[in-house]
Amino acid sequence: MNLWIFIHAVVDHVINFCFSFFYDDSKRTQIPTVKESFLMESAVSLAERIRNKEVSAEVVVQGFIDRIREVNPLINSVVDERYEQALREARDADDFLACTTLSAAELKLQKPFLGVPFTTKDSTAVKGLRHTLGLISRRNIKGVEDADVVVLLKKAGGILVAVTNIPEYNLWVETRNNVYGQTLNPYNTTRTVGGSSGGEASLIATSGSPMGIGTDIGGSIRMPAFYCGIFGHKPTTGSLTPTKGLTKRTGLEGNTMVTAGPLCRYAQDLLPFLQVLLGNNISRLQLDAEVCLKDIQFFYMEESGELRSSSICEELQHTLRRAVFHFQDLSRSPVQKVRFSEMRYSFKLWRYWMTREPFDLAVELADGKGAVSVWKELPKKLLGQSDFTFATIMNLINRVILPQENAEWAESTTERLRSEIVEKLGDNGVLLYPSHPFPAVYHYSSILRPYNFGYWAIFNVLKLPVTQVPMGLSKDGLPLGIQVVAAPYNDHLCITVAKELQKAFGGWVPPFPV
Ligand SMILES: *[C@@H]1O[C@H](CO)[C@@H](O)[C@H](O)[C@H]1NC(C)=O
Ligand SMILES: *[C@@H]1O[C@H](CO)[C@@H](O)[C@H](O)[C@H]1NC(C)=O
Repeated sequence: MNLWIFIHAVVDHVINFCFSFFYDDSKRTQIPTVKESFLMESAVSLAERIRNKEVSAEVVVQGFIDRIREVNPLINSVVDERYEQALREARDADDFLACTTLSAAELKLQKPFLGVPFTTKDSTAVKGLRHTLGLISRRNIKGVEDADVVVLLKKAGGILVAVTNIPEYNLWVETRNNVYGQTLNPYNTTRTVGGSSGGEASLIATSGSPMGIGTDIGGSIRMPAFYCGIFGHKPTTGSLTPTKGLTKRTGLEGNTMVTAGPLCRYAQDLLPFLQVLLGNNISRLQLDAEVCLKDIQFFYMEESGELRSSSICEELQHTLRRAVFHFQDLSRSPVQKVRFSEMRYSFKLWRYWMTREPFDLAVELADGKGAVSVWKELPKKLLGQSDFTFATIMNLINRVILPQENAEWAESTTERLRSEIVEKLGDNGVLLYPSHPFPAVYHYSSILRPYNFGYWAIFNVLKLPVTQVPMGLSKDGLPLGIQVVAAPYNDHLCITVAKELQKAFGGWVPPFPV
């Protein structure tokens, strides 16, 4: 086993070395500083200042539009926009504020994000904007109606400004497709932004948007949030946030690992943003509960134990330990190291549960015209004639050709692991868990280390709530962070801990000089 870990470490070094050779210093791109100080503010602070008429919604929306125009050529995040309508809606919000008789408190309750701009992914339907899913066959397709989560955020007063880039059909750990190309990491453009909410995370990290709606079926909120150094929350899974309009879902599919959730730069935005996305299900979570950090029982795990994934690099081990030490001082009960041995099956379990998702990849890729045959597409790809990315072909091979996991084993292991963790965490427990073995990796290198993705995917399998928390930058200037996990419906614990970590370690560090 030690030999295996050693060989893996050597391979990881070789991969990093080869890629660093390819991506040299000449690719340096610096994101320019913001021109308006309000671009640095949290969404709740912007909402408050708009409500109090200290700044107009129009000025704020215009400021973010100008920022997008400035940064998008450098990171390639935004794929379609509605700037004109957004400015009109901002003026309407300002007019409404000028004549409303509602008090600031009532306004906050009814329209918590009045006048605040937001963005979402290409795969989340928005009326009149591109809804390509990154597929060439859909390159001209536009959304016909807003996804339910978009409706909810608009009802809360939010103003949709743009939609952002994703991997093909949302199914890859890098944001790249043949319609819009590749999105770049603002901390270092030689690195990936992750997927699938990669356009969102990179745009938010560069202050091109104060808040974005992500979706997460295997890490799609937490991975880009980690790679781009912002906060992301994957809520408890189980139809709490509506799925209608997400990646062509009708909302009637039943069991799925997917859930929508917030992406933002500041921990204080998570809770009010999540409240909006929950709609009628708000009472299912205890988001208003007073939590005392002293009473939380902290647990941590240093690695998944999955032998096929890389070891956690030193800097990220250290990041987790800093959080552990912090809560060691703060909590009444000592922080406990735990071991859930079946976490080592993270990747296999997710792979199994993906086959139970209510969609057939081959059919979806053909977009209503039969099904894509992997046997035809693979040779076409090798001859450079395929419309699909290599990642998608790999996904098809994985789904159609490779042997599948044993259902009985996967289901009983999932059940066992879930009960073990839920029992341990109880109603006041939080698990600190690594986000990934490395900070943002080089473009294309993930394909050589697919199993590392298990660090995110296991929590979709287990349906647990998780917050991704940024914890400063590495010596190479790349975001570090950890995942904060709780038992089902205890999202408020994750968010409370995220706020404390922001206070202690600084949270989001802008990828531009300030
Ligand atoms: C980005 O990464 C490359 C390759 O590791 C490195 O040479 C370069 O200095 C980095 N750029 C910045 C701005 O840190
Ligand atoms: C959430 O709300 C929707 C629509 O109001 C409902 O269909 C769904 O069952 C609710 N989910 C839960 C977990 O209560």
